[in-house]
Amino acid sequence: MSLICELNDLRHLYHKRVPKMFQGYCESGSWTQHTLGLNQSDFNQILFRQRVARDLEPRTLQSKLVGHDASMPLALAPVGLLGMQHADGEILAAQAAEEFGVPFTLSTMSICSIEAVAAKTQSPFWFQLYVQKDREFTKKLIDRAKAAGCSALVVTLDLQMIGRRHADHRNGMTAPPKLTIPNLFDIARRPRWAMKMLTTSNREFGNIQGCATGVDDMNDLMKWTAGSFDTKLSWEDIRYFRDLWQGPLIIKGIMEVEDAKECVKLGADAIVVSNHGGRQLDSARSSISTLPEIVAAVGDQLEVWLDSGIRSGQDIIRAKALGAKGVMVGRPMVYGLGAMGKAGVTRMLEIFHEEAELTMAFIGHRDIKDISRSDVVFQHEKFRDV
Ligand code: GLV
Repeated sequence: MSLICELNDLRHLYHKRVPKMFQGYCESGSWTQHTLGLNQSDFNQILFRQRVARDLEPRTLQSKLVGHDASMPLALAPVGLLGMQHADGEILAAQAAEEFGVPFTLSTMSICSIEAVAAKTQSPFWFQLYVQKDREFTKKLIDRAKAAGCSALVVTLDLQMIGRRHADHRNGMTAPPKLTIPNLFDIARRPRWAMKMLTTSNREFGNIQGCATGVDDMNDLMKWTAGSFDTKLSWEDIRYFRDLWQGPLIIKGIMEVEDAKECVKLGADAIVVSNHGGRQLDSARSSISTLPEIVAAVGDQLEVWLDSGIRSGQDIIRAKALGAKGVMVGRPMVYGLGAMGKAGVTRMLEIFHEEAELTMAFIGHRDIKDISRSDVVFQHEKFRDV
């Protein structure tokens, strides 16, 4: 474990241990992957101001996230098919999050069902909802999340249609994988993954079973999504879900001020500035570059979160400096999970915590709540006083 120093160490192991088709699903962005790249490169434009001779004891990243205490301002993002990256992936990631004291978000498109995750965890987790045309089914999902004690509902609005990610088509991605000759060769090189997968019964979409019959490969999934996700979704419809769900409501996939204002109007508790990890609209702006204007417009009325591009604890501090209340991380969780199961997710959380805490100290703070815009400059601003 001590050799795992940074996220890239986990990523390297992940690439060795998980079948190619699921790596492709995790790593790819849509079309040219321009936004996928921007999400990360724009973070690197944000530089820190080093401060010295400050009292740095004691230090804390403790945060309140939609009313709940967390050990740092981070939640594990909803990721579809997590249980294909590692057997029982959703359960293991939820357990790691629970032990670390941060929220875990279960995707509608998870492999382990809401009930399966609830049965193996003690703390409440968050449930992510894709709104479907079949309102009864959508309502049933919400009722199941309530019955399981979920403590927040995350409604994702940027995937009413699914983005085109070429790798999934090239790899013939299916859950579970079809036993074609190339797949068998690939899986034979990943015995750890295969052995664990053989020991679980969680191998299909746990939350939509019985609803998405015949969904086998990526083409089927696209067809099913096109047929069942509600492409006529309106703010009025979302209001209906607001009324059905009495707990904290988080709306994910907001990239414009006008949309953020709609979320305020309907009484959302938080929004997540996100372009879905560059997996939906290619050439969308990076989420970190969009964050400041959204915080300026609505940050005093609801919590503004950031997702898409966080790859280190330093990125958490950058997002905090630009006004994010918290961040969601998807791919880093997948790297940890695929590399080492629950221990890998825990290690990722430890690394991010250490990096964030040390960065906070170097810029002269001991409480994450004190990080502000004045702690950073942008790359293009660095010569402004010359
Ligand atoms: C689903 O959330 C996806 O990005 O594939």
